[in-house]
Amino acid sequence: MAGNSWLESTSLDVEIPPLSLQCVRIVWVWHELCLSGTSQMLRATMNPNTKPPCSSPVQDYLEQLHLEFGRVGDGQVATYIPELAKANPNWFGICLVTSGGAIYEVGDSTQPFTIQSISKPFVYGLALEDHGRADVLARVGLEPTGDAFNSISLDPGSGRPRNPMINAGAIATAGLISGKTPKTRRKRLLEMMGSYAGRELELDEAVYRSESETGHRNRAIGHMLRNFDMITGDPTPVVELYFQQCSVSVTCRDLAVMAATLANRGVNPVTGKQAIRGEYVESVLSVMGSCGMYDFAGEWIYKIGMPAKSGVAGGVIAVLPGQLGIGVFSPPLDSRGNSVRGIGVCNELSRSLDLHLFNRPSSARSVIRLKYTGAELNSSRVRAPQESQALHEFGAAIKAYQLQGHLNFTTSEVVVHDILQGLNTTEYVVLDLKRVLDLNESACRLFYHLLLKLSDQGKFLIFTHAERFPVLRRFMKVKLDKRFEELFRVLADNDPALEWCENRLLEKTATSTSLNGRVKHGDYDLFADFTQDELGTVATLLKRRSYQGGEAIIQIGDEARHLFLLARGSVSVLIPLASGVSKRLATFSAGMGFGEMAVLDRAPRSAMIQADTEVECDLLAIEDLTQLGETHPTIKIKLLQNISLGLCRKLRKANREISTLE
Ligand code: DON
Repeated sequence: MAGNSWLESTSLDVEIPPLSLQCVRIVWVWHELCLSGTSQMLRATMNPNTKPPCSSPVQDYLEQLHLEFGRVGDGQVATYIPELAKANPNWFGICLVTSGGAIYEVGDSTQPFTIQSISKPFVYGLALEDHGRADVLARVGLEPTGDAFNSISLDPGSGRPRNPMINAGAIATAGLISGKTPKTRRKRLLEMMGSYAGRELELDEAVYRSESETGHRNRAIGHMLRNFDMITGDPTPVVELYFQQCSVSVTCRDLAVMAATLANRGVNPVTGKQAIRGEYVESVLSVMGSCGMYDFAGEWIYKIGMPAKSGVAGGVIAVLPGQLGIGVFSPPLDSRGNSVRGIGVCNELSRSLDLHLFNRPSSARSVIRLKYTGAELNSSRVRAPQESQALHEFGAAIKAYQLQGHLNFTTSEVVVHDILQGLNTTEYVVLDLKRVLDLNESACRLFYHLLLKLSDQGKFLIFTHAERFPVLRRFMKVKLDKRFEELFRVLADNDPALEWCENRLLEKTATSTSLNGRVKHGDYDLFADFTQDELGTVATLLKRRSYQGGEAIIQIGDEARHLFLLARGSVSVLIPLASGVSKRLATFSAGMGFGEMAVLDRAPRSAMIQADTEVECDLLAIEDLTQLGETHPTIKIKLLQNISLGLCRKLRKANREISTLE
């Protein structure tokens, strides 16, 4: 340990030159990016293969930080592992990776060095996957020691090391890595770390040998642990595996990608590969938060506020869950064995980018992106005027919620609370999950109890766009058991969900006027106010056509030759979306007309009309209608009037709905 004053404690009193106004602007931009979570977009723009047209404000900011902290000359390179003493004290890299996969790096971000103690949280994660929490806890505790990383602090009674971040705990953890042979265990370690880094990693044999030849203190710890049965069998191969995990060669960029993988709940945001099961990430981040910075952990979490881990080769990682990972590399260490520039950069990033974990704005309320009722916004099923009037009057009993972001206990509570507040006037609730990013079990539990409360009162809950959340279906299936089919309603899209509610509401309010079976000419809404004679006249021009369910009646681009009057069945207007799926714009029932726009502008058909059921239509040729204008102008006028009235109703509905959506 000669030449490294590990034991003299020092604080964060490192001189930092003042930040320029330009930095403040950059900080503001970055803050907006964090808040709006547009990382996907950034990944698209910042994919390492595509050079962005101009440097990103984030990149500029990191370069500014690198410039400023590059001037800091405090600290000493570690020498107690002789090979580490060869490090160049001027090496300095910063890298920041977002949970969306955007990578920003500056300085020596690709300079290889050994991971050292930063390996500990990742190996702890592997031990959890291999043995589960209980077995690991039996061998390694969770309490911060407040002592240095190499202190021999074992629990006096059990001999159990206090936590997995100090060497004693890390050696015990290494003893838990499964694998028949030392070679297999080493291979599993390298593969695990490689999946975090997003590339194949190798051992720095020179550092490994150097530590193995001088690691007497760790060997002593190994034997102590063997003495207390915290490791079984010969401790030597376990301590060797520990030396190997510390000697894995990484870069600053690797560290940031590894940290971002933890921030992204175990999924590597660059490769998309799952490096650790999501449920164990909270345990890894917890020990990093409480013990990762050893006897500096308290000041670190207080000032910087992110789970972190440092290594004696000069690496530091910090993780902001759900958002980003930071990697800093600079060999000169402070008295506690942490990189001086590493601490300074993380402190500045946290302070100026507002990354402190315990300073989070309440995001719960924003979970409800849009809320509307069945009186404000209807399905695209075109309703007869009486039905539209009824929906206007009673539609408030349908409440629809467009949800967004993360559905967890806090955010789901906001939704459930809002629904229960208005329960007296609610019969149907539609929960649209289209813009939800993820949904956890506590959200499922709240929605399950809400579903039961609603169904006990004869009310209905429908989920849309739920296919992306199998956890919800699984949870409901287990909990609802026999009532699952009856109570758990999921529809692909809001439109059919709204129609489902509307149909039941109209039936319930006995205002459903949809005409089943075949309608008479006099029932056509486009022939409203026609006299019997006029009906007789126009009837001679009508040609009856039948269509099978699913058959296209009109294709986009078709020349417009006829006006269609629906005698039986139902048809839908569909347009293709960029995603390849069709979007339903409207559905007509018997008695309604369609294709009337072309009567006015003679333009080619702009949407596809498809028979939803077996359909019979009366076709009125546009030529015959023109002819009618000559022979029976009153009929044509009445028809055009009814067409205009119909278009007015559609326009008014569209205006009302657009104002609801905005
Ligand atoms: O066991 C050791 O001493 C080294 N392999 C790792 C120590 C270390 O990185 C402490 N971190 N700040």
